[in-house]
Amino acid sequence: MTVGELEKYLNEYLKAPEFEDFTFNGINIGKRDWEIKEVITATDYERSLVDVAKNENANVIIVHHGLWWGKPYTITDEVYDDMAYLMKRDVALLSYHLPLDAHPEVGNNAYILGALGVEPDRWQPMDVGFYVDVDITVADIVAKLEKVLGMPKDVWEFGDGNVRRLGVISGAGGSFLGTLLDLGVDTYITGEISYPQWRDFRRYGINVLLYGHYKSETGGPILLSKHIEKQFGIKSQFVDIYERAM
Ligand SMILES: [Fe+2]
Repeated sequence: MTVGELEKYLNEYLKAPEFEDFTFNGINIGKRDWEIKEVITATDYERSLVDVAKNENANVIIVHHGLWWGKPYTITDEVYDDMAYLMKRDVALLSYHLPLDAHPEVGNNAYILGALGVEPDRWQPMDVGFYVDVDITVADIVAKLEKVLGMPKDVWEFGDGNVRRLGVISGAGGSFLGTLLDLGVDTYITGEISYPQWRDFRRYGINVLLYGHYKSETGGPILLSKHIEKQFGIKSQFVDIYERAM
């Protein structure tokens, strides 16, 4: 399979063209006619991933957060070095941002709900995440997610600790309070929120569990790696690049 064929498959499978993303989805750097040896997936691009790839005989890296954010795309300084590092070693970089949050099988939010043991047919879409009706407690969520995400960075029990309607949006999910209120969500799992947003969650009595931007977005790359291996028989592995991260 070539890099171009994998990109075509992932664009369709992740429904990438359907997203109005503020970053780029698909091949960041690389040649479409390269034959894939092995694949590395990760949450963020770091040059150390290229070293891991070379050691593992992988020539494709797929990340959730790619090289460029916003326009115009200039190639200077750190971005120059990032690109040169990949290009000197003939390693391709692909990134999938919002499509890898929202996907019901291999998305970051699907991973979290899967770990909670909630059947997918009960998930309702909510922006790039989901909400679901449950009958558990905040403490149950912490216990269940510890195995896959570790302990949350913060748990704010602004409600009574009982969870009836749970919302999940990975990453920086603090701006969705209006949506959560409209939907009657009483407990929210996300990566990070700002201080003014924290005050609003407190004001409206919504329980918030914060797992950090990075940790909350490791599930998609983990699931995508497994999917590529299963679907195409290409050896693939997720690399957890940060021991500790925001
Ligand atoms: Fe993110």
